Amino acid sequence: MEEKKPVRVLFVCLGNICRSPAAEGVFRAILRENCAESRYVVDSAGTGGYHIGQLPDKRMRIHARSRGLELTHRCRQVSVDDFADFDLIIGMDASNLANLRRLAPSVEAARKVCGMASFFSGGSCYDHVPDPYYEGAEGFELVLDLLQDGCQNLFNRLESGERI
Ligand code: 4NP
Repeated sequence: MEEKKPVRVLFVCLGNICRSPAAEGVFRAILRENCAESRYVVDSAGTGGYHIGQLPDKRMRIHARSRGLELTHRCRQVSVDDFADFDLIIGMDASNLANLRRLAPSVEAARKVCGMASFFSGGSCYDHVPDPYYEGAEGFELVLDLLQDGCQNLFNRLESGERI
C-alpha cells in the first residue's frame, strides 16, 4: 500500500526566536504524545533576518522548559522556497501574514498562509499571538498558553482529515 505523504507545517513569526520556535516545540510535543511524528514535517522561520543561526530567546527557552519543552531550533529566515516545501504556513500576527502573502510566488502559494489565531478555541479574546519580545514573564506564558490551545486544535483538525 502507498504511504501517505507527511503534512508539512511551517510556523512563522518576525524574529523566529520567540513565538514560532515555541509553536514548533509545542506542536512537536503534541505529535510525540500522539505517536504522530512520522506523519508530519515541522519547522519554523522568521520574516526578519536579525537573529539567523541563534537559538530561541533565553526567556522563551526557560518558560518552555518549565512546561517540559526543549527548544533547540536555530533561527532562519523564511524564503520563497518554503512555499514549495510546506503545505501550511502559519503566521502569528497580521504583520507576519501580510509579509508572507507578499512573498508568496503565486495565488495558490498564498492560499497556504493562515493565521495561528484561526485555530484558537471559540471564545478566545485573541486574534493573534502577541509579540512577547518587549514584555515580561506574563507575555511568554500567554504565548505558550495560546500556542498550546491553537496547536492542539490544529492537530485535531489535521488528524480528522479536514482540509485547511
Ligand atoms: P518573535 O519575537 O517574532 O516572536 O521571534 C521577536 C524577536 C525579536 C525581535 C522582535 C520580535 N527583534 O526585534 O529583534
